Amino acid sequence: MSLLSGKLLRLLGLGLLASASAIEGSHQSAPTAQTLNGTYEGLHLPDWDQDAFLGMPFAQPPVGPLRWRWPQSLNASFEGVRGATAYGHSCMQYGSNFSLSEDCLTINVYNLSGIVKVSQDMGRPIVAVSMNYRLGMWGFLQSPQILAEGSSNAGLLDQRLSLRWVQENIGAFGGDPARVTVWGESAGAQSIAYQMFAYGGRDDGLFRSAILESGGPTGAQAEPLSWYGGAFENLTRAVGCFGNGNSASASAKDQLACLRSVDQASLFAAHPSVVWNPLLDGDFLPAYPSQLMREGKFLRVPLLTGANTDETFSLPGVQDTEEELFDAFLGWRSYALTPPTIRRLLALYPDDDDPSSCQAPPPPRAITNCSTPRPGVGRQWRRGAAIGSDLVMIAQRRRMAELLTAAKQKVYSYRFDQRPWDGPEWDGVKHFQNVAFSFQNISGRLGPSAYDG
Ligand SMILES: *[C@@H]1O[C@H](CO)[C@@H](O)[C@H](O)[C@H]1NC(C)=O
Ligand SMILES: *[C@@H]1O[C@H](CO)[C@@H](O)[C@H](O)[C@H]1NC(C)=O
Ligand SMILES: *[C@@H]1O[C@H](CO)[C@@H](O)[C@H](O)[C@H]1NC(C)=O
Ligand SMILES: *[C@@H]1O[C@H](CO)[C@@H](O)[C@H](O)[C@H]1NC(C)=O
Ligand SMILES: *[C@@H]1O[C@H](CO)[C@@H](O)[C@H](O)[C@H]1NC(C)=O
Ligand SMILES: *[C@@H]1O[C@H](CO)[C@@H](O)[C@H](O)[C@H]1NC(C)=O
Ligand SMILES: *[C@@H]1O[C@H](CO)[C@@H](O)[C@H](O)[C@H]1NC(C)=O
Repeated sequence: MSLLSGKLLRLLGLGLLASASAIEGSHQSAPTAQTLNGTYEGLHLPDWDQDAFLGMPFAQPPVGPLRWRWPQSLNASFEGVRGATAYGHSCMQYGSNFSLSEDCLTINVYNLSGIVKVSQDMGRPIVAVSMNYRLGMWGFLQSPQILAEGSSNAGLLDQRLSLRWVQENIGAFGGDPARVTVWGESAGAQSIAYQMFAYGGRDDGLFRSAILESGGPTGAQAEPLSWYGGAFENLTRAVGCFGNGNSASASAKDQLACLRSVDQASLFAAHPSVVWNPLLDGDFLPAYPSQLMREGKFLRVPLLTGANTDETFSLPGVQDTEEELFDAFLGWRSYALTPPTIRRLLALYPDDDDPSSCQAPPPPRAITNCSTPRPGVGRQWRRGAAIGSDLVMIAQRRRMAELLTAAKQKVYSYRFDQRPWDGPEWDGVKHFQNVAFSFQNISGRLGPSAYDG
C-alpha cells in the first residue's frame, strides 16, 4: 500500500457500518498489515480502488466480568494471518437492527469515499479509521457502585483506548501517529469535546487536531448521579438483581456481580427508559466543561467546528402558547432548565409575530415571514426550535471557537447552509444533513447534479 501521511478518525460509530454485507472484495490483491498483536489481511475493493481492514478488535471483549468496566487493552498476540474482511458486531443499542453484540469493540482502517479521495487528489493523503464504542447503558450505566469501582463513562474510555490503538498500530497501515485528526458529528462531536476536557485537558498525545460537526460540550447533559437512581433501580428489579446489594448483609459488589451475570438478551429486554449520559466522575471528567473552560483546563489543538443553519432542535408536542412552550422546556431533554432560565430565554427570543420587525427569523431561516406557521405544528414551533437549536448545537460552535482562538489555536468555523435536493423548505437545513456531503455520492443521496442530462 502506498504511504499515507495523515489520518482521520470518525467517532460517530454508525452510518458506514451499516453496509457491511454489501462489500465485495477481492482476495487477489488483498492488503496485509502487521499490527502489534499480529498480521491482518484486509480487502481490496477494485471498483473503488480502496483498501479496507474491517472488524479488528482493539480491546478485550467487554463481556462477563468486564461488562461496564473500562476497556482492557489487548494483551495477547496471534500467529499466522487473520482476516479483517467484515465489520464486527455493532454495539448494543435500541432502534437500529444492525447485528448487535456486547462483544463489539472493533476498529476499521480504510480509505472511505469522498474525503479520502479528495485528500489523495490533493497530494496530501489521509487514511480513515472508524471504531465502535459502547452506547447507552452498556457504555454509560451510572450508579454509585459503578462510580465507586471506577467504571463510569466506559464508552468514552473505549474511544480513548481506540485512539491508543491508533497510536500503536496505524503506522502498519501507512498512517502517521503524530498526525491524527479526530472527526465526529453529533454524538461523535460531543464525544470529542469530552475527550478535549478529559483529565482536565491532559495531553496524552492521542490526536493533534479536531473536527466537531454539529456537537460540542453542550448537548449531552451531565446529570448528577442521583438523577439515574430510579432507572437503575428499575433495571436491577427487571433482571432480578434488586435484592443483592440493597440489604445490609449484601455488599454493593454483589449487586454488580449479579448484573454482570445477566445474559445479554435479558439485559437488552430490561431497557431502562432513560438516556445514559457521561457523569462527572472525578477522574476522566473532573468537572463540568463550563468550569474547566474557566480554569483553562482543556486540550489545546487546532479546531474545525460548525453547525447547520437551522439544526431544528424543536420540542416534542404542540405548543401554541407561551405557557405551553414554557412547560415543554421544563421537561426537555432532561436538561433541568429552571423556571428563571426559561423565562430569560423567552425574553431573549421574543414571540415576534410582526413580519416587518422580524430581523432574524427563527428556523427555518429561509422562510423570513415570522408569522408563517409551519404546517402541522404549534404556533410556537419556530420559537422553540430557535432556542433549542442554539442551546444544543449552535452555542457550542461559537463557545469552542472563542475558547480555542483565545488559546492561540487555529480555528475554522463554518455554517452549513445546503438543504438536500429533495428536502422541503419547511424542514430547513436540519441536523445531520451535512453528513452526506462529507462522503462521495455513492447512494445518490446528493440528488441530481447540475450536469445530469
Ligand atoms: C486507497 O488506499 C490505497 C492503499 O494506500 C491506495 O492505493 C488507493 O489509491 C487509495 N484509494 C483512494 C480512492 O484513495
Ligand atoms: C496487543 O495490541 C495492543 C494494542 O495495540 C497492545 O497494547 C499490546 O501491547 C499488544 N500485546 C501483544 C502481546 O501483542
Ligand atoms: C490478559 O488480561 C486478562 C485480564 O484482563 C487476564 O485474565 C489474562 O490472563 C491476560 N492474558 C495474558 C496473556 O496476559
Ligand atoms: C429489531 O428486531 C427486533 C427483534 O427481532 C424487533 O422486535 C424490533 O422491532 C426490530 N427493530 C427495528 C427497528 O427494526
Ligand atoms: C421505573 O419504573 C416505574 C414503574 O414501572 C416507572 O413508573 C418509572 O417511570 C420508571 N423510572 C424510570 C426512571 O425509568
Ligand atoms: C406572513 O404570513 C402570514 C400568515 O401566513 C400572512 O397572513 C401574511 O400575509 C404574510 N406576510 C407577508 C408579508 O407575506
Ligand atoms: C449523485 O448520484 C446520482 C445517482 O448515481 C446521480 O444521478 C447524480 O448526478 C449524483 N449527484 C451529484 C451531485 O453528483
